[in-house]
Amino acid sequence: MGQIKFITDFDDNFYLNKKIFVRVDFNVKVQDNVVSEDYRIRSAIPTIEYLVKRGAKVILGSHLDRPQGKDDRYSLRPVSLKLAEILSSFNAKVCFSDDCIGTRTKKMVDSLKKGEVLLLENLRFYPEEEKNDTSFSETLSSFADVYVNDAFSTSHRKHSSTYGVARFFDIRIAGFNLAQELQYLSLLREKPTNPFTLVIGGVKIKDKIGALDHLLPKADKVLIGGAASYTFLKAKGHSVGKSLIEEDYLPWVTKALQAHSDKIILPLDHKVAVSEKSDNYQIVQTDIPKDMRGYDIGDKTIQKFSYEIHNNGLGTIFWNGPMGYFEREIFSNGTKSVAVSMALAYWRGVKTLIGGGDTLEAMKVSGVSEKEVTHVSTGGGASLRFLAGDEMPGIDVLKIN
Ligand code: 3PG
Repeated sequence: MGQIKFITDFDDNFYLNKKIFVRVDFNVKVQDNVVSEDYRIRSAIPTIEYLVKRGAKVILGSHLDRPQGKDDRYSLRPVSLKLAEILSSFNAKVCFSDDCIGTRTKKMVDSLKKGEVLLLENLRFYPEEEKNDTSFSETLSSFADVYVNDAFSTSHRKHSSTYGVARFFDIRIAGFNLAQELQYLSLLREKPTNPFTLVIGGVKIKDKIGALDHLLPKADKVLIGGAASYTFLKAKGHSVGKSLIEEDYLPWVTKALQAHSDKIILPLDHKVAVSEKSDNYQIVQTDIPKDMRGYDIGDKTIQKFSYEIHNNGLGTIFWNGPMGYFEREIFSNGTKSVAVSMALAYWRGVKTLIGGGDTLEAMKVSGVSEKEVTHVSTGGGASLRFLAGDEMPGIDVLKIN
């Protein structure tokens, strides 16, 4: 396997007047035609700024959500406005093409001047994108001289813009966002500094199994809260009432509990209610009454988890998944206290990493800034796949001899 070239591996002059296709992940939250969460846009700015300042013509390609064909609700136009606002600080002109291929788009590409940026419309308006269609890839590749992947969070997809397009270029490069993700997540995957604490919550154990298989043997402590914990508690023979359970994964959970019983810490108590809409809740100990569902970890658990996070010494902590249904204030204490404990650990010198869209959201709701974390991964699915050691087509395609 070849080496990955990074954006700084080339002379500044290399970029002058070159057309650079940059795959970014601008799959952000848009409400009423306004971008309401722009972390992923901001994370791509260092690469865009670097290229703009070296006189490149920057063509940005991204998806937004999962549209079924062309659908204005998923247009990237609001993103182009946000981008223009951010890039105005260094006077970079941002244009938007309301298609991602076609003659009008080609004209816009050809009339780009050095230092200008063109954002293409949602690539997923064409089903060819997700099918990794060769002629779609070839068309996109015809717009540029160089390919840059700066979208770690979509690099687990073998799509046209993440894989097929790249193969048409002799020069394919990793941008700053991708480089940073690779640096931190490789460290986490290969040799996290001990003590190493894992904090796992959220739903879908299924998506986390690969990463957990890889990380559990390396971890010193594993705190499991949120919806994920009910399957673990059930596997231990506790009653979990109507809480979310992933029956299919009980055998895997049982094995994990047997192999790592010394490090796995499960909730000692829960905040339960009859439904997520209910304003009445109770705190119960490990077992949950049969007509109730767990929506948050209880106070004893909060204390225990905070203690474990604070006692990590100067090691590493990786947090993935909220501790409860934090979207409702009354069920958000567990998640908030973990977020605050993570921030305190960071200030004390612990390497703290956060992965998964929900976790970033949870952190923000808790009033913790992304500056109070060593690394916030832009990837949800992608970071878990990477940590599992799975194939990452968007990264592998950059490795050339
Ligand atoms: C994400 O939000 O995780 C990435 O943008 C990838 O999106 P996808 O799961 O729709 O491919």
